[in-house]
Amino acid sequence: MELPAQLRQAVEHYLEGTPLDELRIAADRLSRRYRAETRDSRLHLDGETAMKAYLAARLPATYAAIRASMAYLAEAAPDFSPKTLIDVGAGPGSVLWAARDCWDSLEDATMIEASDAARKTGMALAADAILPNAQWFAGDATAPLPVKEPADLVTLSYVLDELAPDAVPALVDRLWALTAQMLLVVEPGTPAGWQRILTVRSRLIAAGAHVAAPCPHDAPCPLVPPDWCHFSRRVARSRLHRLTKNAEVPWEDEKFIYLAASRQPVAAQAATPAPRVIAPPQHGKGRIELKLCLADGTAGARLVTKRDGEAFRSARRVDWGDTLPTGN
Ligand SMILES: C[S@@+](CC[C@H](N)C(=O)[O-])C[C@H]1O[C@@H](n2cnc3c(N)ncnc32)[C@H](O)[C@@H]1O
Repeated sequence: MELPAQLRQAVEHYLEGTPLDELRIAADRLSRRYRAETRDSRLHLDGETAMKAYLAARLPATYAAIRASMAYLAEAAPDFSPKTLIDVGAGPGSVLWAARDCWDSLEDATMIEASDAARKTGMALAADAILPNAQWFAGDATAPLPVKEPADLVTLSYVLDELAPDAVPALVDRLWALTAQMLLVVEPGTPAGWQRILTVRSRLIAAGAHVAAPCPHDAPCPLVPPDWCHFSRRVARSRLHRLTKNAEVPWEDEKFIYLAASRQPVAAQAATPAPRVIAPPQHGKGRIELKLCLADGTAGARLVTKRDGEAFRSARRVDWGDTLPTGN
């Protein structure tokens, strides 16, 4: 997956003239803070240089994870066509660009972000773009949010890992109160990211939410550590991206986990929800082994062989993260 051309150009324009060494040092510092999940009361994106490093080294991957999560959500809820969006911890506006790419219906967006540098960057990137009418607000995700009107779609992407765990339940309640139709939370696809999504998931289900994706059920997650649920997207690295990370390979795999929760059951929940493929399919000669999460709340391996006819042909088409067409 690549950034949409207009966003790629806006980023290139924004980064023009920035010394490569400056980007490298800032990207390295950012990466160490993210990996260590540093919480020292300072924002990671606390200035223009950190923001530039984020654009060069992280935005392509978070965009890919968000856009993929939205595609899964749109597949589960084909009738969902949001007009309004509230995005908390908006950073450079990754969600805004992905939502605009996913849903033509989007008209208005409220972007809430604590970092001045991130808000400034997000507004600059969107300045010349045909995006929904977006308003940017300074706001703290751990306090009452500066917005009262609910939106069709509420999002929180790659933010929970920057918050103290005890701030999460109240934030989930605030986000759900602002959700008219759908809440989407995206996190890094690490065991810790999965645990945070599980916290969000159980709180939302207790509040009456329906899981639209990825789980085909509202039962407790059947996976047990050291296993964890996550998905992956291959992200193309631009030349600047490679140079910033001192990387040679022209792509990277972004692991992510997401949860889409809806006020009303979505189309995918109407009949028996289709199983979700929760690991890379293992292809052998005339056989495919799929690890599936099932509507009855269990998970496990299923072997499909050539003898299974249409089921085998369907299984050949599915990838990690997809639903397996029902009837298989
Ligand atoms: C990793 S970035 C993610 C940005 C964007 N959502 C994305 O997915 O690319 C996390 C963002 O959350 C913001 N953030 C962190 N703590 C916050 C808080 N307490 N309130 C509001 N925003 C916060 C950071 O400033 C940063 O812009």
